[in-house]
Amino acid sequence: MSISQVDLRQTRLPIQPQIISALMQLTDDSEVGFRDLEKIIKADENISTLILKAANSPLYSRGKEIRSIQIAISLLGFRVIRTLATVASSQGMFQSGNYARFRKYVSEHAVITGVIARSIAVKLKLKNLEEDAFVGGLLHDLGKVIMNSLDRSHYIEVIHLVERGVPFSQAEKQIFGFSHRDIGEKAAMTWNLPQIYRWILSTHGLDALTPPEGMDESSRALVQIVACANYLARLYGYGAPLSGIEHEISKFFDALGMDSDTRSFYLSEFRENIPKDEFYNFFITIL
Ligand SMILES: [Fe+2]
Repeated sequence: MSISQVDLRQTRLPIQPQIISALMQLTDDSEVGFRDLEKIIKADENISTLILKAANSPLYSRGKEIRSIQIAISLLGFRVIRTLATVASSQGMFQSGNYARFRKYVSEHAVITGVIARSIAVKLKLKNLEEDAFVGGLLHDLGKVIMNSLDRSHYIEVIHLVERGVPFSQAEKQIFGFSHRDIGEKAAMTWNLPQIYRWILSTHGLDALTPPEGMDESSRALVQIVACANYLARLYGYGAPLSGIEHEISKFFDALGMDSDTRSFYLSEFRENIPKDEFYNFFITIL
């Protein structure tokens, strides 16, 4: 199969790309952005339900019961609500009758990558990147979800190869003729996702260490945070195993300017505590 033959508009996907794209294009610096966010959420029962459930959960609850989307937005903030709406629109990525190994290597890996990426943004005091880091981590392997939707039995063959030690992109090229990064980038263009997501979907390996020219500082940090989280997730056992991964992780620690306390936090403390992490537990149960 050649990538140019893939018509993403005709492919049945377990996510709602138009809604995800609309959400990503909203800006939080005007009343219009807030109103549009509310409109998108209210138009979709599944999104509204998830948001009210999340807003009243111990993780997000502010004490009083929240019954309207408008109040949820004003209490939790535009960015948090937009993240939750994006999660709801990509929920099918984690369900849709997927087989156990796909859930392990792709779905669970995605959630954990999002959780780690958010945590890194918090640790590095990049407050404005927290939500994007989470969404970026959650969606970075969207290409794998697309490929699995295009041809599930071929994707099972990919996973067989991965289990024998072949890297994902190489196995995908062997079976499909293109990788999840290639199709992820094509998807980002087809759906008009913001440029930063085009980078995240196509560049989340070692290539994230040498970002393309013209990339601004905060996009570079975001791409590297997601790539670092991607490797850490695999180190922690969520995703396909990869040997010698510590070496790669240290390169990202360097690129992100992490001090030695933060490095050891991610190599030991955080690693041990992730099964108890409140974000991880919350998203694993709602997804
Ligand atoms: Fe990944």
